[in-house]
Amino acid sequence: MTPLKRIVLLGPPGAGKGTQAKLLAARTGLLHLSTGDLLREEVARGSPLGTRAKGYMDRGDLVPDDLIIGMIRERIAQKSGFILDGFPRTVAQAEALARITPLDVVVNIGLAREEVIRRLSSRRVCRSCGRIYNLLFDPPPDAQRCAACGGELFQRDDDQAKVIENRYDVYAELTAPLVAFYGARGLLRDVDGSRPSAEILERVLTLVRG
Ligand code: AP5
Repeated sequence: MTPLKRIVLLGPPGAGKGTQAKLLAARTGLLHLSTGDLLREEVARGSPLGTRAKGYMDRGDLVPDDLIIGMIRERIAQKSGFILDGFPRTVAQAEALARITPLDVVVNIGLAREEVIRRLSSRRVCRSCGRIYNLLFDPPPDAQRCAACGGELFQRDDDQAKVIENRYDVYAELTAPLVAFYGARGLLRDVDGSRPSAEILERVLTLVRG
């Protein structure tokens, strides 16, 4: 059985794409590319791309397709394996991705709106290693420090109630159509994002093993 290597993780904000992508990358050795993380690095560096993207991100709107496609294209062209987390987010992005590389599987992690809001309001992230915590579901022993590396834990600027709600609405309008897009191409596999993280990982591993 050949493992599936070109993987997209799809789902609403807070569904657990980043959590699962990190676990999956550790188990498979595949490259993990998160457009959200890449954009936050650009913002932190104060690059021209980061400066343009920041306003969209702070409001919870999508960064324009041309900027995102330009950012991701070089990173995946010629790669034989990857886990894409947070990309594509629009039909135009999915069409552009199809011109760059074929995919093996699209894992759609589902989660209801109320649960999205609950999870994201209580998310904390390590500034140094990027480990993701949750004050309700996966609390760190020390609310200020990462248990893995001792780095500072912080709350993302876009994890404020009003912004979270807008992010969910933007997802429903612009990203949810990708479920039908990939369903029609026979690539979509559904996963229940409300289950415990370890259980989801086992399901995802089964899917990517083909
Ligand atoms: P991005 O960083 O991609 O944000 P997102 O898609 O909104 O996803 P999140 O990172 O919020 O959630 P996640 O699904 O990764 O969940 P996580 O694992 O952290 O994008 C940010 C912004 O950048 C966008 O709003 C946009 O402006 C821009 N952007 C990015 N990509 C773009 C693109 N392609 N096009 C245009 N613009 C783009 O988990 C969430 C919480 O839940 C954590 O606290 C975690 O510990 C907890 N948790 C995870 N799994 C479980 C579980 N099974 N049970 C209980 N708790 C769990």
